[in-house]
Amino acid sequence: MSDNRQHLGNSISQQKKGFTTVSTAARLSVAPMMDWTDRHCRYFHRLLSQRALLYTEMVTSPALVRGGALHLLEYSPEEHPVALQLGGSDPAELAEAARLGAEAGYDEINLNVGCPSDRVQNGAFGAILMRDPKLVAACCAAMRAATDVEITVKCRIGVDDQEPSDVLPEFIARVAGAGVARFSIHARKAWLQGLSPKENRDIPPLDYDLVQQMKGLFPALHLSLNGGVATLDVAEAALERGMDGVMIGRAAYHQSADILLEADHRIFGDAPHGQSREDIVLKMLPYIDEHMAKGGKLGQVTRHMLGIFAGKPGARHWKRHLSENAHKSDAGSHTVVTAIELMQAARPAFE
Ligand SMILES: Cc1cc2nc3c(=O)[nH]c(=O)nc-3n(C[C@H](O)[C@H](O)[C@H](O)COP(=O)(O)O)c2cc1C
Repeated sequence: MSDNRQHLGNSISQQKKGFTTVSTAARLSVAPMMDWTDRHCRYFHRLLSQRALLYTEMVTSPALVRGGALHLLEYSPEEHPVALQLGGSDPAELAEAARLGAEAGYDEINLNVGCPSDRVQNGAFGAILMRDPKLVAACCAAMRAATDVEITVKCRIGVDDQEPSDVLPEFIARVAGAGVARFSIHARKAWLQGLSPKENRDIPPLDYDLVQQMKGLFPALHLSLNGGVATLDVAEAALERGMDGVMIGRAAYHQSADILLEADHRIFGDAPHGQSREDIVLKMLPYIDEHMAKGGKLGQVTRHMLGIFAGKPGARHWKRHLSENAHKSDAGSHTVVTAIELMQAARPAFE
């Protein structure tokens, strides 16, 4: 935490204690993922890593500004450092949405220029904005003028028939000209016709070299590599090659502990914390109790935790017990404890 920040006496800054700046946290981030990185998921991820930057799901500026859906901004203070991702393409509306996000205490506001879904295309935002860097720059300038919170952009390397090596540097230069100093680049094109959003995360080939070249072209910018990074080894290699950050999506969700449990040590240089996966699960229990006391359902939290033991002996007992029981009316944190016990009982005796 910087000295300046330490003097901010409000409760938000107190909750942010322990990290220096958001861009330091962005050395490793968990990508925004609709329906996945909700507040329960982020709370869980934060227990696994104190340091990584966590992104919300995309929240659209029309939903916030025209729809008044302010509940979409709710999060737990423990989630800091946490970035709000916005979707939109109207500068004034995005500025207002950014202001609302800043007021809610988010550490960063990120603009989505990467999402290829139809719904998003029709609203003229997401990846299609790769075609209109001028508009993206105008949106970012308006957002910057509306708040002191850092504005960042998550983009693709191009869309459809665009030539990435031409359009990506132009895009970055134009948007950086509006004062954006940090980008996360999903290192593949989005094909807006003919591919589903899911296919658009796998089929267009990854081009890490091009993203790496951007670091050479724009050494002063903070650039994170995104797309297909499935291990901390790959993340470390990208950082060693000079990238400022690595953003991990699906692997951080499905193999949360493999990615996040050692991240503070390996990526941020902290001393090893010695916590086991079981320790993290047990730390979730008070959160689960609180959530359920407010009328929430167990499965809303545990669905994000199913992969924590992925690849470990007995993991399927953990997963199966939660999948079969989390929705039952008598489910509670005791269901989670039983799932751990079943998993442990299924492990070989020498474990
Ligand atoms: C279920 C799901 C939802 C996603 N939703 C968003 C989103 O809301 N905003 C966004 O910018 N990207 C979204 N993405 C894309 C990811 O942020 C990321 O760019 C992509 O998955 C590639 O990274 P990965 O290979 O590490 O998963 C989503 C991806 C998945 C799997």
